[in-house]
Amino acid sequence: MTKPRHFISLLDFSSAELRSLLNRASELKKFRDPDYQPLKGKVLAMIFEKSSTRTRISFEAGMCHFGGSALFLSPRDTQLGRGEPLADSARVISSMVDAIMLRTHSHDTVTTFAEYSSVPVINGLTDRQHPCQLLADMQTYFEHRGDIQGKTVAWIGDGNNMCNSYVDAAYLLGFQLNIACPDGYLPDAEAVKQAGTHVNYFSSACAAAENADLVVTDVWASMGQEEEQRQRQLDFHEYQVNRTVMAAAKPDALFMHCLPAHRGEEVTAEVIDGKQSIVFAEAENRLHAQKALLEFLMCAK
Ligand code: CP
Ligand code: NVA
Repeated sequence: MTKPRHFISLLDFSSAELRSLLNRASELKKFRDPDYQPLKGKVLAMIFEKSSTRTRISFEAGMCHFGGSALFLSPRDTQLGRGEPLADSARVISSMVDAIMLRTHSHDTVTTFAEYSSVPVINGLTDRQHPCQLLADMQTYFEHRGDIQGKTVAWIGDGNNMCNSYVDAAYLLGFQLNIACPDGYLPDAEAVKQAGTHVNYFSSACAAAENADLVVTDVWASMGQEEEQRQRQLDFHEYQVNRTVMAAAKPDALFMHCLPAHRGEEVTAEVIDGKQSIVFAEAENRLHAQKALLEFLMCAK
């Protein structure tokens, strides 16, 4: 049996494949044809250990648009929550569906699923990566400003799953990533090493944002870190994206946030609801980018 292609991190794609997928996403968005149903009769299983609005709805709607369907599975209601081994679950579920999307606490859960699954496995967010969000973010940047190669992106805040995926994107698409994170909250060292000169650290939010074409942030406490919220509010208070930080960036710089956002914490209302913010275009592109991803992984070539 040939191994299926999975999408666990952006690095599962070559630069050329990623660029072509981003083009396809914009094409699918512009020319939506209700008669184009390449996934007719196909089923996507979606396993969510954590909450979701955008990821769930975009995958479910995307499968519907393509003539297929999606199953929402929570560990609470399946044997996964009662400790059935991941390897057994992956073999069983993949024998009945055409692709599996997982949002899990541990990244290893997704890699184990991929190891034992006979169909493509898609990472819908783990503690280490959020590659689907990066497809949407990059599509959105390209649609607003053209190619991101050679541009400067400022990441302000937590070196979390989103930040790690930005590091991979910088490497694959050839942009500079300026990171400002408090001590103790840096992104994955291996990923940063691989990205080489594409990633640089800065000691303040304004220094990272200087001359940036795009400023990005995310929540200070991710899902599963709720108990650290108070400590994180103390540690991150100098890492808010506000008017002063945006003023350090280029005058036409854009602002992105994967959402959900906490106005008054990682970003002020003035910035996220202001003219430079493209967060709702970014959110909508989850649908288009993932349709391109589903087509790439699930359609016979
Ligand atoms: N950005 C994102 O992944 O949103 P959800 O948590 O709503 O899926
Ligand atoms: N870093 C956030 C992203 C949410 C889409 C989290 O993991 O909760």
